[in-house]
Amino acid sequence: MNLKIALLPGDGIGPEVLNQAVKCLHAVEETFNHHFTFKEALVGATAIDRTGNPLPNQTLNLCQEADAVLFGAIGDPKYDNDPSAKVRPEQGLLKLRKELGLFANIRPVQVFPTLLDNSPLKKDIIAGTDFVIYRELTGGIYFGEKKLNEEGTIASDLCEYSEKEISRIAHLAFKAAKNRSGKLTLVDKANVLESSRLWRRVVSKIAESYPEVTLDFLFVDNAAMQIILNPSQFDIILTENMFGDIISDEGSVIGGSIGLLASASVGEQNALFEPIHGSYPQAKGKDIANPIASILSAAMLLEHFGLFEEAMSVREAVDKSLKKGIVTPDLAKKSQYGTNQVGDFIADNIVDEDDDLNM
Ligand code: IPM
Ligand code: MN
Repeated sequence: MNLKIALLPGDGIGPEVLNQAVKCLHAVEETFNHHFTFKEALVGATAIDRTGNPLPNQTLNLCQEADAVLFGAIGDPKYDNDPSAKVRPEQGLLKLRKELGLFANIRPVQVFPTLLDNSPLKKDIIAGTDFVIYRELTGGIYFGEKKLNEEGTIASDLCEYSEKEISRIAHLAFKAAKNRSGKLTLVDKANVLESSRLWRRVVSKIAESYPEVTLDFLFVDNAAMQIILNPSQFDIILTENMFGDIISDEGSVIGGSIGLLASASVGEQNALFEPIHGSYPQAKGKDIANPIASILSAAMLLEHFGLFEEAMSVREAVDKSLKKGIVTPDLAKKSQYGTNQVGDFIADNIVDEDDDLNM
């Protein structure tokens, strides 16, 4: 298969973790005889420094023309300390999501059996966790009208959803639930918010066309509690933009490191793959950042294009690195391995199971 992949390394550890994912994709090309072309562009603080714009037109064009986008990370402390800065790195990612129409953000949360002891939560609570968050990504409070009065004393952000915005991601979530254990939980705040009540109505109606899926509802405050009390009760979680942002960071604690969680953001025309972690500026250039979330994002990219065997070979290589303890210091305090060594090990272990020569 030929694929054009846009690479957006972004800020902080973005470039170094993205490099490891690219190594793995090169290994997949060689092992399975595919042809991927990679083109790199600027985004985030790095793009602001060079061009004044967190999403230069050239970057947007490259992404629009590509089959898929592989994203590193975004954010820089120099903007975090000045929340009123007019131009911010995050605007680059938000605009990219909007322009590419990436309305569904898919975030799988699993525990690797080899890492059961890494979680701050008790083993018997987290064992068997395997759920996927479907987070709406181009609507809600993130994109509603923002206001600040002249005196700078009153501010508001509008949370708005249309039936169409809810139903298109709901269908994806129901289809996913149908292919898994058939349970979908809508997380909302329907006891307080009108927008949540619309979500309930629209999702309940759609549920009628998926009789094999059991739908239940959970208020977001309760969901926040249930996710760490009893995570294995969940299969597919469907939720709006902001709730999804918050509960997915919470979900990342279950596995013991946020450096393990990958995500896919999909729309009708485009797809973008990125770790859920941020730019971790303290680790930039130190060769300590965990590349696994980025590598697993590449695996999700392969799955998106139906390359399941290829994706499986990447996942198996990741499992092997975890089993052998070839991991970065976030997973083992005394680890001697750096970002690059972990990336090399995983890339070197990408094999075609059907190929006798590799057995
Ligand atoms: C995420 C991030 C982004 C978000 C930020 C960087 C804008 O936290 O992808 O979860 O809030 O969506
Ligand atoms: Mn987030």
